[in-house]
Amino acid sequence: MCNTIFTSFGAITEIFSNFEKRKRMITNMKTIFLAGGCFWGTENYIRQFDGVVETVTGYANGTVPDPSYEEVYTDRTGYVECVKVVYDENILSLRTLLKLFFISINPLQKDGQAGNIGTRYRTGIYWTDQVDRQTVEDVYAEIQSTYEAELTDAVHSDGCIHRQKIIYVETGPLQCFYPAEDYHQDYLVKHPDGYCHISLATQHFAKTYARLTKALKTAQATSRPLSKEEKYNILFTHISLLIKSKDEAIKSLAQMSLMIHQTFGFWWTGFYLVKGKELVLGPYQGPLACLRIAYGRGVCGTAWKEGRTIIVPDVEEFPGHIACSSESRSEIVIPLRHEGEIKGVLDIDSEKLATFDDTDALWLEKITDELNLV
Ligand code: SME
Repeated sequence: MCNTIFTSFGAITEIFSNFEKRKRMITNMKTIFLAGGCFWGTENYIRQFDGVVETVTGYANGTVPDPSYEEVYTDRTGYVECVKVVYDENILSLRTLLKLFFISINPLQKDGQAGNIGTRYRTGIYWTDQVDRQTVEDVYAEIQSTYEAELTDAVHSDGCIHRQKIIYVETGPLQCFYPAEDYHQDYLVKHPDGYCHISLATQHFAKTYARLTKALKTAQATSRPLSKEEKYNILFTHISLLIKSKDEAIKSLAQMSLMIHQTFGFWWTGFYLVKGKELVLGPYQGPLACLRIAYGRGVCGTAWKEGRTIIVPDVEEFPGHIACSSESRSEIVIPLRHEGEIKGVLDIDSEKLATFDDTDALWLEKITDELNLV
C-alpha cells in the first residue's frame, strides 16, 4: 500500500517536473536594463520587437532612494532614465536586442541623446545576471570597432594628445532601479504625437521590420510551411509600407536587401549599381562579393545588357558566370529601371540548385518597382 502511494507520488512529481521543464523550454524570460536617452522613446522603440514581453520606464543607478522625476531632472542624483526590458530569450537573443538598441542611439554623444542633454540622458546597458556580461561586452566591442574612423583627441596624463575612439555607453551591473511615475509608462502609446528623440525614419524601419518577422513567424506557426507566393505576399506588403518615393535610394536598397534576405534566408542578396560602363557593388546581405562587373559580363552584366530578368538554375551552365564564391549554385538577376533606363540590378544567389523560377521573377520585379532610383 505504502509502496503504491510512493510510486504514484513519484510519478506525479515526475509529471510536475517535466511540466516545469517544458514550461522553461517554452519561455525563457530574461531581463536587461537599457538607457537610450529619453525613456519615452526608448521604451516605445524596444517594446515593438517580437520577444519583448514587458517594458517599464524608470530611474537607474543613482544615490537617493525612490527618486521622483523632478529630483532626477536636477541631474544631481546620479540617476539615468532607463527601461527595464523583460524578453523571452527563446524568441529574441540578448545579442539581437542589443544590436537593435544600438540602432536607436548615437553612442558618440556623451551625456545626452539628440536634444536631451544631461547625465540623466546618458546611454547605458546594465545587467542583473552576471552571465550577460560577456554578451554585452562582445556587442560593445563590435560596435566600437565600427567607429574606427571616429577619432577623438584626448589629452593623456603624459601631456601628449592621443587620438582615440570613444563610444559613450556605460556598461555594468544594475545597482538599483525604481519604476517611474505612472504617466511615464507607455507614454508614447498614450500620446502617439508626443516627443520622441528617436527619428521617425528609424522607428518606422524598426517597426516595419519587426512586423515583417512577426508576420512570417505567425503565418508559419499557424499553417503548413509557407509557400513562396505567401512569403512574397507578406514581404511585398511590408516593403511597400516602408519605402516612400521620396526616400534616399541607398537607404531603400539597404533596407530592401535586408528584408528579402531575412524572409527567404537566401545565400546572398544585393544590388549592383550602374556607374559608367560597370556595375558597382551596392548594399547587400551575405558574404563578401565581387566589387565591379563589366557591361555584358556575368549574369549581372548580361541582365543589364539585355534588359531582362535572368534565372540561372545551375550557375555552371551559364557561360561567363562570375563566381564570387564557389558556394553559389543558382541565381536570379533583375534589372532596375528608372524612366526606362537601367540603373542597376538586384542579384540573388542560392547555395542550392534551381532555387528560382517565374514566381520569384514576377514578385521581385514587382518589389523592385517600389524603388525610386533617380
Ligand atoms: N554571379 C554574378 C556575380 C555577382 S555575385 O553572384 C554576388 C554574375 O555572374 O554576374
